Amino acid sequence: MTMRIQMDAGGVGEIKADTVVIPITRRGETPKTLPQGLSALDRRMGGRLSDAIESGDFKAGAGDRLPIYGPKGGDIVRVVFLGLGDGEGIDDARLREFGGRVGREANREGRGRVALVVPPGAGLAPEKAVPLIAEGALLGAYTFDRYKSGARKNKRAPVKRLRIVTVRKVKGLAGLRAETKRAVQIAECQLEARDLSNEPPNSIYPESLAREARKMARQVGLKCSVMNVTEMEKRGMGAILAVGQGSERPPRMVVLEHGATAARKRKGTLALIGKGITFDSGGLSLKSAGGMLEMKHDMSGAAAVFGAMKAIALLDLPIHVVGLLAAAENMPSHMAYRPSDIIESASGQTIEIVNTDAEGRLVMADALDHAVKTFKPDAMIDIATLTGAAMMAFGPHATAGLGNDDGVLTELQAAGDAVGETVWPMPLLDAHTKAMRSKVADWKNSGGPSGGVSTAGAFLQGFVGDTPWVHLDIAGSGMSNIGTPLHIGGGTGVGVRMLTEWVRARSE
Ligand code: BES
Ligand code: MN
Ligand code: ZN
Repeated sequence: MTMRIQMDAGGVGEIKADTVVIPITRRGETPKTLPQGLSALDRRMGGRLSDAIESGDFKAGAGDRLPIYGPKGGDIVRVVFLGLGDGEGIDDARLREFGGRVGREANREGRGRVALVVPPGAGLAPEKAVPLIAEGALLGAYTFDRYKSGARKNKRAPVKRLRIVTVRKVKGLAGLRAETKRAVQIAECQLEARDLSNEPPNSIYPESLAREARKMARQVGLKCSVMNVTEMEKRGMGAILAVGQGSERPPRMVVLEHGATAARKRKGTLALIGKGITFDSGGLSLKSAGGMLEMKHDMSGAAAVFGAMKAIALLDLPIHVVGLLAAAENMPSHMAYRPSDIIESASGQTIEIVNTDAEGRLVMADALDHAVKTFKPDAMIDIATLTGAAMMAFGPHATAGLGNDDGVLTELQAAGDAVGETVWPMPLLDAHTKAMRSKVADWKNSGGPSGGVSTAGAFLQGFVGDTPWVHLDIAGSGMSNIGTPLHIGGGTGVGVRMLTEWVRARSE
């Protein structure tokens, strides 16, 4: 399903649509009058809108919904009131979630042409509300159904359209259109990240992920190179190779690059590194059946980097950005790496494998080292579904953040807050590093279950040198089956908006 969003200012009286959605706010009490500027629409609906609102039945709480059917033979089939809650203090999150409900509404069977009317009113200034509602609508309307027979037979997925119409003329309409377009582009990149995350592991494996990255790079004008096993061997990337060696599907390291010009590089170089375990069985330290169930999502960090790099290219942000996808499949087999193996990473540091299920940090170690040595970034972010501990700590509600630079961590928290993705700091202490030291090698790959987010982070720190760096653990926030107005379930695409916003802020 795709959705196109179009924005118009003024002209609600003549609106052509089968379904018209109207946000209704309350002011401490149940609204008793129709929002301003809707009387022409009310007349076309035979006065049923004012009848409904004057009855006082509709309380306009956030999430409340009231469909009102038009007179027979009229050209509007239905108007749907959607409650926005109290008009005081409508913040970005509420507008985005409201957008999500509008997206769901547009997605219902038989909705035809859908228009959302934005009446003047508390918290609904179009300059602020329209881009957020558009973004929310795309996220809320998202479904992953391409493997259902119906969707597969119907080769051309129906394109739903949503028109957003403001009651009043808008000052600076061109600016608002551009702003809305940007919000839509970024949200679409997030949906691509969701798609990649939701694809089953027999469809997305390291090679096919690399193929998708190549295709995307060609579309938007990113540089893209893909390392195969031979090239990784040449570079001594023993960690990602060890993780991938048990699988029939060989690992890949994908390098995407935006703005590789002298002028852009003067603005600085940023690196984004994503964990791309296309399926995590645990390897010989095999996961339980239940624990394995969601592990097609174990490449959600790579999907976030994929989506963010695409958005960065589309917005043509004026800075040099490198995106790495560290892709491997973690499988048990007679070829698989073993607990007790000692491997050598690209950095030259050795790692004792104590648990083959702690594979994410291994592929990330080689990717971080490559980013540091090849591109010498001014700042580097890694994003990974790294530990069950992060999921236990935060559930899907926050991303764990830690690193070696409080300034960059603060920047990421600010970027997250600006786009509605929460980053919560976790400690990275010398004691966590100590827990990762091996008796027989430079490192071991697991410090045990306690303090799991921080010990994993401490391990990664061993591979970033003195590059300012932040690690984001999205094991909780990257996938969820708790439905929200913005997400029905599966991969969330978390990180795309935040990373794009962080790069944008850095490029100013
Ligand atoms: N991919 C998992 C982490 C994960 C768990 C992500 C649940 C999403 C939901 C990771 O590779 C893993 O298995 N981590 C282990 C590390 C342990 C062996 C040190 C974990 O967290 O249990
Ligand atoms: Mn694992
Ligand atoms: Zn994993």
